[in-house]
Amino acid sequence: MSKLWGGRFTKTAEEWVDEFGASIGFDQLLVEEDIEGSLAHVKMLGKCGILAEEEVEKITEGLKKILVKAQNGELEYSVQNEDIHLNVEKFLIDEIGPVGGKLHTGRSRNDQVATDMHLYLRKQMEEILSEIKSLQNALVKQGKQHVETLIPGYTHLQRAQPVSFAHHLMAYFWMLERDYNRFADGLKRVNISPLGAGALAGTTFPIDRDYSAELLGFDGIYENSLDAVSDRDFILEFLSGSSILMMHLSRLCEEIILWSSQEFRFIELDDAFATGSSIMPQKKNPDMAELIRGKTGRVYGSLFSLLTILKGLPLAYNKDMQEDKEGMFDTVTTVKGSLKIFTGMIETMTVNTDVMEKATHSDFSNATELADYLASKGMPFREAHEVVGKLVLHCIQKGHFLLDLPFADYKEASSLFEEDIYEMLQPKTVVARRNSAGGTGFAQVQLAIEKAESLLNNK
Ligand code: ARG
Repeated sequence: MSKLWGGRFTKTAEEWVDEFGASIGFDQLLVEEDIEGSLAHVKMLGKCGILAEEEVEKITEGLKKILVKAQNGELEYSVQNEDIHLNVEKFLIDEIGPVGGKLHTGRSRNDQVATDMHLYLRKQMEEILSEIKSLQNALVKQGKQHVETLIPGYTHLQRAQPVSFAHHLMAYFWMLERDYNRFADGLKRVNISPLGAGALAGTTFPIDRDYSAELLGFDGIYENSLDAVSDRDFILEFLSGSSILMMHLSRLCEEIILWSSQEFRFIELDDAFATGSSIMPQKKNPDMAELIRGKTGRVYGSLFSLLTILKGLPLAYNKDMQEDKEGMFDTVTTVKGSLKIFTGMIETMTVNTDVMEKATHSDFSNATELADYLASKGMPFREAHEVVGKLVLHCIQKGHFLLDLPFADYKEASSLFEEDIYEMLQPKTVVARRNSAGGTGFAQVQLAIEKAESLLNNK
């Protein structure tokens, strides 16, 4: 079969060589964007008097027919035509005859493929933004139920200080808020048109790049034609934003996996988001959380793959760049899928408030409170730390927690202690009193939830 670019060639490659070089196996995902870009391009060619009106009409009609076929899954792509761009052009020529060959006037596949990917990512990132928002909503909804639910707070995975469970969930809300803003900001650079940059140097035809950009809803055009066809920063930004987002999700996965273990029993996942074992009848595994944690790896992989592909490339287009697509597609699927599963998982999980609460009573995570108590009565904090440390050791030796240690023992440790320590040491009091801005005090958490809700309402 002859190639659309076959003029200069005296023989055709063997099929297996064609197969190696072809991208149609994966870039057919861009078919709608490719046609959308071509529709704008041909309209611009008409407006600038480069093609006659009837040519524009014919090409437009032909492209629209191909679009319908694409949507109905009726197109038969061929490896011989290498990629989505040449496949569509071939379909067009088959559909309307040689006039179809005029579509490629004043453009190259190099600006065309870049345009397609800008269009594709814009759409996908908008969907991802809305998926992030849904997950944020789910976190706020759970958070609202659990402002006064206590959970041990950890550092080094050792009990540190009790916190409100809502506060813990809301920490992830704010991570996602940054993720959201990263994607929203990245969209500014996605929404720029490379179309009309040509192969690398622009074109002799009197095209109007601003007009085709406007038709495609872009906010502007690349200033430099070499940069326009060589730039993949917008994909790198997407991949790094996705990597950070997945890292956040993966951390929460890890907590969900821990929390749903027998050892913690802080939460129970809904049956719809867990799986059983083929051999052990009692098992209920947090597979979805594990899988999202695992999938984080492939997203990092795609980021590293593209960074590596690009690092040694001279200007302008190089075929290496065809390798930019699969990682991007895979990341879109992974991120969208993970966010969707996560939202369902958070919305439906059962929180074992009693188990969490009980846990906050069976540790020394109220010890800081006691040191603060002495410090507020004038003892230097460093000394107070020492006194309380000794008290903790004393408790451990006598088999007590701070709340059930007899008052006489306190008095012996420091005359500054009064009976009101028992109220101060209650985990609820401990949490409620941490009312510094952004702290876990109930009033602060309530404020944070209100702030989060207003952010979500304005999105
Ligand atoms: N399939 C190619 C890609 O994905 C399209 C651009 C090809 N341009 C070229 N000059 N070979 O990168």
